[in-house]
Amino acid sequence: PGRPGRPVPGTDFEAVPPNTLDAITIPEGYDQRVVIRWGDAVEFGAPKFDFAKQTAAAQAKQFGYNCDFVGLIPQDPLGIRNLLVVNHEYTTEVHMFPADQYDPANPTEEQVKIAWAAHGLSVVQAFRDPIGGALRTVPSPFNRRITLNTAFEVRGPAAGSKYLKTSADPTGRKVFGTQNNCAGGVTPWGTVLSGEENVNQYFANAASVTDPVAAARLKRYGFSGAASTRKWERFDKRWDLAQEPNEANRFGWVVEIDPNDPNSTPIKHTALGRFKHEAANIKITKDGRVAVYSGDDERFEYIYKFVSKGKYKPGKSAHARRHNSALLDDGTLYVARFTGDSPGEIDGTGKLPKDGEFDGVGEWIPLAAGNKSFVDGFTAEEVYVFTRDAADKVQPTKMDRPEDIEPNPVNGRIYAALTNNSQRGPAGKANVDEANPRPNNRNGHVLEWDENGGDAASTKFSWRLLLVCGDPKTADTYFGGFPKEQVSPISCPDNVAFDRHGNLWISTDGNALGSHDGLFSVPVEGPERGHVKQFLSVPVGAECCGPVVTDHLVLVAVQHPGEDAPNSGSPTSHWPDGGTSQPRPSIVSVWKKGRWGQVGRIGVK
Ligand code: FEO
Ligand code: CA
Ligand code: CA
Ligand code: CA
Repeated sequence: PGRPGRPVPGTDFEAVPPNTLDAITIPEGYDQRVVIRWGDAVEFGAPKFDFAKQTAAAQAKQFGYNCDFVGLIPQDPLGIRNLLVVNHEYTTEVHMFPADQYDPANPTEEQVKIAWAAHGLSVVQAFRDPIGGALRTVPSPFNRRITLNTAFEVRGPAAGSKYLKTSADPTGRKVFGTQNNCAGGVTPWGTVLSGEENVNQYFANAASVTDPVAAARLKRYGFSGAASTRKWERFDKRWDLAQEPNEANRFGWVVEIDPNDPNSTPIKHTALGRFKHEAANIKITKDGRVAVYSGDDERFEYIYKFVSKGKYKPGKSAHARRHNSALLDDGTLYVARFTGDSPGEIDGTGKLPKDGEFDGVGEWIPLAAGNKSFVDGFTAEEVYVFTRDAADKVQPTKMDRPEDIEPNPVNGRIYAALTNNSQRGPAGKANVDEANPRPNNRNGHVLEWDENGGDAASTKFSWRLLLVCGDPKTADTYFGGFPKEQVSPISCPDNVAFDRHGNLWISTDGNALGSHDGLFSVPVEGPERGHVKQFLSVPVGAECCGPVVTDHLVLVAVQHPGEDAPNSGSPTSHWPDGGTSQPRPSIVSVWKKGRWGQVGRIGVK
């Protein structure tokens, strides 16, 4: 990194200052519009949303709750007609029903069924207005809700496993629904991968499982206690581990949805392993195979990679989609170990080592390939279903909550958001390493690596921290060597995306600096490398998800606005509808106002 230069294409805008407004705040010269809100119509026949009179039948046709991942799949060369694919990570029942209707200790069956229907994904056709700039959803045969009642096909080496069989599904190959879908990725063949993340929270009675092996496996994945928070076990025994212990193993996978075919059966890909998948993103290897990167988002968990056996067929035809999807069912699953090159210098202060960087080399340790296990004491089937337990045996690096991981399509490097970890211990004696150098890491960091030879199939790589996030005025932050007095404060990186120029865009969740979460851009090459600028901020209590950045449009998902309030009777946010309205998780489009009413280009003056 040298001296700051001219603004880089894609990031030439006036940074939004940190703030606590109950609004989406965007740069001067930009405009915004809500694309779709919780409760808006998705499928034909969806009734008009009525907060006080919601039903499960209505919710099953309407946009779900707590939008997270956003995929925008163009259906024409100009990106006018698109398929918008959105995850609905979880439900916040105390905000979904009027305070006098919802008793958390005794939800009604209808309220529980509303929650099942508010999970999953939405597929909606959406048109970009080439003059006005906004993205607008339309009624369309592509529109589809996927909920906890949608049948999924289990594929790959653990399909039909004894660990996946339940009384409702003795085949171990058919699961109803997907849940806690956090981030995801659009595949080169035009489908969407989505990560099932914190699935443990939905299950009751882990404490009643007495078999010591089964109990230890449940514990490793965070399943605990007696009654669940949402009490779903009262209305379907599959949520009761005392009755259906294997139902737990049917979640925690990467799922694939084909939005191009509304009649397609979604897939759970077991070859990608089972853990708290934040997301899944693909890079094609030098010899044409498919590599998938995925983080396990919990403190001290690992980063994984899958490399397919078969080769990718370019194209998006039904034939290519079928062929490429099947590649995700046979390959090698690896876990990452990061080794620093400044041993003895990581003292817990966040101070840079003498070589000027937190950096080093790393390797991908194989766990299983097809039906062969590389882990002592584990069958291949066990590696895939109990991936965390298997990975524990091979000394991977325990990371500070690996969230989104994505390859940069311009420079070929891989970028991972490590959102935070406040539990490495007191400063000075902490359990730190060069890849996770701060003991009380409240603000997170961003990791960058080069696979050896630029090949996603390589088992060796070199890495460095691009950002050590936080208040740039504090000594324990680092912005790729860029002068710190010029950057926006950034905290808790979660989702990452790239614009056409290869700039990294980062959305945040859990800002620990006293202002709201938002979306930030940062060039990764040249003299502007590390120049973090805030592009937008989100309303009270919300995290910023998505994001999608094209030449003409930025999309973000505003998840859980008003979540800091105890119940729906006293919301702290009234976004997006204003007045005294209930807050509603929503997708927002942002565009640059150009001359003569034309749309400008994002980040280009
Ligand atoms: Fe659902 Fe890892 O954030
Ligand atoms: Ca170093
Ligand atoms: Ca996330
Ligand atoms: Ca998060």
